[in-house]
Amino acid sequence: MIGIYVHVPFCESKCIYCDFASFVCGEQKIYFDCLRQEIEKCEQKGQKVDTIYFGGGTPSVVCEKYIADTLGYIRKNFDVSKNSEITIECNPNSASLEKLKFYRSIGITRVSFGVQSLNDKVLKFLGRKHNKKEAISAIQYAKKVGFENISADLIVGLPNVSSSMLCSHAKKLVDAGVTHISSYMLQVEEGTPLFKMCTENPQLLPSEEECAESFSKLVKTLQQCGFVQYEVSNFAREGNESKHNLKYWSGENYLGFGLSATSTFDNKRWTNGKTFKSYYNGEREVELLGNREKIEEKIMLGLRCYLGFKLEEIEKLGYKLTSNKNFQTLLEKGVIYESEGKIHINPKFYSVNNQIITKLLP
Ligand SMILES: C[S@@+](CC[C@H](N)C(=O)[O-])C[C@H]1O[C@@H](n2cnc3c(N)ncnc32)[C@H](O)[C@@H]1O
Ligand code: SF4
Repeated sequence: MIGIYVHVPFCESKCIYCDFASFVCGEQKIYFDCLRQEIEKCEQKGQKVDTIYFGGGTPSVVCEKYIADTLGYIRKNFDVSKNSEITIECNPNSASLEKLKFYRSIGITRVSFGVQSLNDKVLKFLGRKHNKKEAISAIQYAKKVGFENISADLIVGLPNVSSSMLCSHAKKLVDAGVTHISSYMLQVEEGTPLFKMCTENPQLLPSEEECAESFSKLVKTLQQCGFVQYEVSNFAREGNESKHNLKYWSGENYLGFGLSATSTFDNKRWTNGKTFKSYYNGEREVELLGNREKIEEKIMLGLRCYLGFKLEEIEKLGYKLTSNKNFQTLLEKGVIYESEGKIHINPKFYSVNNQIITKLLP
């Protein structure tokens, strides 16, 4: 079973920190026509699919007909399982009750809201178009129309957000009904307005220590709320983990359609053009994955989440990990453990996972 990602590169406005392939202008009809052609021409047509993810950009800003049509083309050209997890990313201000009801009616099973913060001043500073009230209402609407799988994104390390404020936002989201939270550290990307602000005022952002403290308090808060940290930055009630993202982390095949979308299929990875022009021209960057890349990815991704990686698969690719001295030491110290032929990270060490991964690479 494979996963399908669909990129929707439209946004109402550009947030000060965002470096994603998303644009305020662009002709939606032309884009979705091109998306249909890409789906119809795909060489992997007919594959069995059990997760579909509409991400962005902001899929909830486009006319819902385009989402329904695209889902229809995917169903027509692939063998989509009845119980598939189908997610759509929504911004709270563009997710009305009617729109969410429509998403349910076309078989979408999961919504992911870009909340980022529940402080109105912070949201305004970030250039977000919603406020706290709209964020909570959107979650409640999603519950009302029958979504049982609701996620929210919260950014860690934002200016003027203390650790206690972050934890209180997480609790409010849980109280409102989310079953999943993704929480990534703020990345200051070159070329964004935030980057310029930080260059002019280096005191703007919290220190690394403050960010680490905020994150560890968030982990504790969410654990107390009954959420499991199933990946470094992802938390869910049992059974509400993102099946789609777990596919990426376990190294399964997936296809990405749309501008800037990446696909990985067997030994090949390709990424579509990152501008409308290059995407419409069918430009792609293609990479062949050798054994070394595969080994590194399996270890890196497997140790970012609770799935781990299969020792046998790494050995088949030509790397005898058990002969690595660091491997034995980490096992003895309980930093990693073996269960049914798989190597897992002890969740207590998620925060230093990069150092552990470096020690295990060939
Ligand atoms: C690219 S956005 C798309 C979803 C939606 N448009 C939104 O803004 O919520 C997906 C998620 O990436 C995260 N994100 C985007 N830029 C980020 C940055 N510079 N640092 C940390 N997280 C970021 C945010 O949490 C966001 O919800
Ligand atoms: S709404 Fe999301 S995708 Fe669009 S600019 Fe803001 S962060 Fe980027």
